[in-house]
Amino acid sequence: MRAISALLLTMASCAWTGFWMENIRHQGLAPFNPDKSYVVFRNVKDFGAKGDGVTDDAPAINAAISSGNRCGGPSCVGSTTTPAVVYFPPGTYLINSPIVDFYYTQIVGDPNDMPIIKGAATFPTEAIAMFDGDPYLRNGYLNFQSTNVFFRQLRNIIFDTTDIRGNATALHWPSSQATSIQNCVFRLSSREGDIHTGIFMEEGSGGLVTDLVFIGGKYGARFGNQQYTMRNLSFYGCGTAIQQIWNWGWTYKSLKIVDCDVGIDMSSWDVGSVILLDSKFVNVKTAMITSRNPGNATGLGSLVIQNVVYQNVPVVLANPQGQPYLLGEANGAVADNVQGNVYAPRGPRLMEGRDFAFSQPPTLKTGDLYYERSKPQYGNLPASSFLSARDLGARGDGVSDDTAALNVLFQQVANTPYVAFLDSGVYKVTDTIYVPPNTRIVGEPLSAIIMGAGKKFADANRPRPVVQVAHPGEIGYVEMSDIIVSTQGATAGAIGIEYNLNTPAAESICSPGAPPSGLWDVHVRIGGFTGSQLQVADCAITPDQPNLVKANCIAGFMSMHVTPSARNLYMENNWIWVADHDIDDPRNTRVSIFVARGLLIEGTRIWLVGSSVEHHTLYQYQLVNATDVWMGQIQTETPYYQPNPPAPFPFTRLSHRLHDPDFAVDCSRPANPSAMTLSGNAPCSMAWGLRVLDSKNVVVFGAGLYSFFNNYSTNCSTVFSGENCQARIFWVGTTNPSIAHSLLAKEGEKGKLGHGPFTGGPGGFSVEVYNLDTIGSVSMATLQGYDMAMWDQNVATFASTLAVFKA
Ligand SMILES: *[C@@H]1O[C@H](CO)[C@@H](O)[C@H](O)[C@H]1NC(C)=O
Ligand SMILES: *[C@@H]1O[C@H](CO)[C@@H](O)[C@H](O)[C@H]1NC(C)=O
Ligand SMILES: *[C@@H]1O[C@H](CO)[C@@H](O)[C@H](O)[C@H]1NC(C)=O
Ligand SMILES: *[C@@H]1O[C@H](CO)[C@@H](O)[C@H](O)[C@H]1NC(C)=O
Ligand SMILES: *[C@@H]1O[C@H](CO)[C@@H](O)[C@H](O)[C@H]1NC(C)=O
Ligand SMILES: *[C@@H]1O[C@H](CO)[C@@H](O)[C@H](O)[C@H]1NC(C)=O
Repeated sequence: MRAISALLLTMASCAWTGFWMENIRHQGLAPFNPDKSYVVFRNVKDFGAKGDGVTDDAPAINAAISSGNRCGGPSCVGSTTTPAVVYFPPGTYLINSPIVDFYYTQIVGDPNDMPIIKGAATFPTEAIAMFDGDPYLRNGYLNFQSTNVFFRQLRNIIFDTTDIRGNATALHWPSSQATSIQNCVFRLSSREGDIHTGIFMEEGSGGLVTDLVFIGGKYGARFGNQQYTMRNLSFYGCGTAIQQIWNWGWTYKSLKIVDCDVGIDMSSWDVGSVILLDSKFVNVKTAMITSRNPGNATGLGSLVIQNVVYQNVPVVLANPQGQPYLLGEANGAVADNVQGNVYAPRGPRLMEGRDFAFSQPPTLKTGDLYYERSKPQYGNLPASSFLSARDLGARGDGVSDDTAALNVLFQQVANTPYVAFLDSGVYKVTDTIYVPPNTRIVGEPLSAIIMGAGKKFADANRPRPVVQVAHPGEIGYVEMSDIIVSTQGATAGAIGIEYNLNTPAAESICSPGAPPSGLWDVHVRIGGFTGSQLQVADCAITPDQPNLVKANCIAGFMSMHVTPSARNLYMENNWIWVADHDIDDPRNTRVSIFVARGLLIEGTRIWLVGSSVEHHTLYQYQLVNATDVWMGQIQTETPYYQPNPPAPFPFTRLSHRLHDPDFAVDCSRPANPSAMTLSGNAPCSMAWGLRVLDSKNVVVFGAGLYSFFNNYSTNCSTVFSGENCQARIFWVGTTNPSIAHSLLAKEGEKGKLGHGPFTGGPGGFSVEVYNLDTIGSVSMATLQGYDMAMWDQNVATFASTLAVFKA
C-alpha cells in the first residue's frame, strides 16, 4: 500500500502536456509474439512523420504501421500476436500515396486537437483511398478477407481530400466484428468534375461507427456490408449523404443530413433492410430513394423509420426514376413509417405507410431520443490520472498469475478519480477478477486481454466468473472500455463476464450527470488465438465422426451474464465470440470449441448498441425476465458443427436457475392447426439465435440471425435447399403455462396491429423486433412454440427479411 501511495504522488505531480495516451509510459506487451522486443505503441512522429503540412508523411506513417514484422501484405491473412496502436499527435500530415493499414491496428489521434491527414494535390487519383484499410491484391481479392477483419479502430482523425482534383476517397474500410470508427471528420471536395467520397465500404460483417462528420463530396459514404450499426453521423452539403451499396440489415440512429441532394440512396436491388431512427433531414431534396415497388410483398428493401424530422424536404421517399412515393410534411412533422411485412404476431401483412404505432418505451429514452453515449476517451484527464497495471506489478506476459495484481489495482482505483489502465498484454488469471462499484478501467486499445486459466474455471458444476463487475446487490457506477476477456484451455466452468451492478443514479436519465454504467468495446473471445490452447492443433474439426467432443475444447459455461440485480447498463460494440477458426493459422483453419451459453440478460434498462454473439451451443442471446432492453443491430451465428452433435450436447440443461431451452420439448411441439406448420426436415436441436422469455419492453432495432452450416457444410443455407440448416432460430414466450395457452387466441380477437400501451402484452411480455433477417432457418419467428413467420414469405437478399414482429 505504501508503495502505491508513493506512486500516486509521483504520478500526480507530473505536469499535464497533452493527451494521456501519448504521454503515458509505453510498456505494452505482445507476449505471444516471438520477438520479445516487439513494440505495441507507435507515435508516427517517432518514425519521422513531420505533421507540418508540407512534408510527404506517407512513408513515415506506413513505417509506423508496418514496423516489427507485422501482419500485412499478401503473405498474412490474420494475426493476434502483432497488435499495434498507431498514434497521431496534432498536426497536418500531408500524404502523396496511400496509408495502408495492417491487421489488428488501432489508429488513434489526439481528441483534443485532432490531427489532419491531407491528400496532396498530386495524390494519385487511381488509388482506392487515402487510407486503405484492406488493399486489393493483384489477384483481385482483398488482402484480408473482409469477414476476417476484426479488432481494429480508427478515431479522432480529420481526413481532407479537398486539394485532390478528380476522384478521391478518404477511407476504404471493409470491416467486421470488433471494429469501429469514432469521432472522425471527412472534408471532401464538391467541385465540378470531382468525385469525392468519405468512406467506401464494400464488404464485411460489422461493426460500429459513431460520431462522424462529412462535409461536401459527391458521396458522404458508400456502404455495403452484411449488417452494421451507425450512430451520430452528420452530413453537410453532400451530393448523396449515404449510398447503400448492399446489405442484409442496417441500423442508422441519430443521423443529421443537411443541405444535400439525397439523404440515403437504398435503391440498389441488393439492399435487404434499413432502420432509420431519431434522425433529421434539413434542406434535402429527396430524403430516401428505394426500389421497392408498392404492393410487392418481397422482403427486399424493408424500411422502418421512427422519430425522424424533415425540414424543407419536398420528397421523403422516391423511386430511382425520381417519382415520389411519399411527400414531405410542410411543417417538418415527425412521421414514422414501415415499408415491408408485418407480423403482430400474425402475418404477413404488407404495410406501406404511416399507420404502425411503434411502442417506443420512454424508459429507454432521454427526452425524445433513445439513449446513446460514445466511448469515453478521457481527453480531459492528464496521464497522471491513469494507474498502469504493469506499474502496479501485473506482468501481462501470458504466463505469470496476475490475479492478485489486477484485483489490487481495481480496488485501488475504485472510488477515486483515477482510471485503471491495462497496458497491452495477456493477463493470465487463475481466479475471479472483481471490479468494485465506482471503478473506471481502460485497456490499451484491444490488446489488453484478461485470460482465465486453471482448475478454478474447470468445473461446469461450479461456474465462476473470470471478470465479475460488482457483487449482486451492490450499487454504483462503472466504465470499462477496450478490453478482451478470454479463457485458456479446458475451462468448462468459466463465465467470461458476470455483471451484477445496480446503477440507480441513472433511474431518471433525463437528469444530467447521471448516466448508466457503460461497457464499450469490451469483448469476450474464446479460443482461436495464440496462447488460448484452443487452436487448430488442439481443437481440429471432426465432421466425419459422430458426436465427438474433445474435453479440452469445452471452454466455457457462459460467455456473459447480466444478472437480475443489474440495472442501467449501456453496452456498445461488444463481440462475444467462440472462435470458429484460428486467427493465427496461416489458412484460418476452422476449429470446434464448445461454450454452452452466450449472453444471458436478466436485468433492467439495458442498451446493447452494435453487438454480436456467435457459436454458443444453447443460445446466443437469451433474455429472461428482463425489462426495458434496447438491442440493435444484433447479429448471431449458430455453431458450424451442429447438429453434429445436436444441442444441448455436450452440455446438460439447467432449467431451474438459468431457464435453458429444452430442445426435447421444443422439438416435439404439436402442430398448431391455425398457425403455419414447419416444412422440410430441418434439424431442430440447434442453438437459438435469440430467445426471449417473460421479458417486457424489449425493442430490437435490427437482428441478423444466421445459420450457415450443418455439420460444416453450407449446402443448407441456400434458397434452393429451402433454408433448412435449422428449424427455428428466434423464440418469444413465457414460462407461465396458463398464459401460454391463451396467447394466440387473444391476439386473434384483438386483430389489430401495433396498438395498445407497451407495458406487457396478453402474455405478460412485450417484444418488438424491426427488420429481422435470418439465414438458413425455416421459421423466422416462433411464439410459444408456434412458427409465426417463415423464410419463404419474406425472401429478400441471401437473407429473408421481415419489417416488424410484435408479440
Ligand atoms: C472516377 O470514377 C468514376 C466512377 O466512380 C469512373 O467512371 C471514372 O473513370 C473515374 N475517373 C478517373 C480519372 O479515375
Ligand atoms: C456526435 O458527434 C459529434 C462529432 O463527433 C460530437 O461532437 C457529439 O458530441 C456527438 N453526440 C453525441 C450525442 O455523442
Ligand atoms: C417483387 O419484387 C421482387 C424482387 O425485386 C421481384 O423479383 C418480383 O418480380 C416483384 N414482383 C412483382 C409482382 O412485381
Ligand atoms: C458430416 O459430414 C461428413 C462429411 O464432411 C460426413 O462424413 C458425416 O457422415 C456427416 N455426419 C453427420 C452426422 O451428418
Ligand atoms: C421476475 O422478476 C420479478 C421482479 O422484477 C420477480 O418478482 C420474479 O420472481 C421474477 N421471475 C422469475 C421467473 O425469475
Ligand atoms: C453439397 O452439395 C454439393 C453440390 O450439390 C455436393 O456435391 C456435396 O456433396 C454436398 N455436400 C454435403 C456435405 O452434403
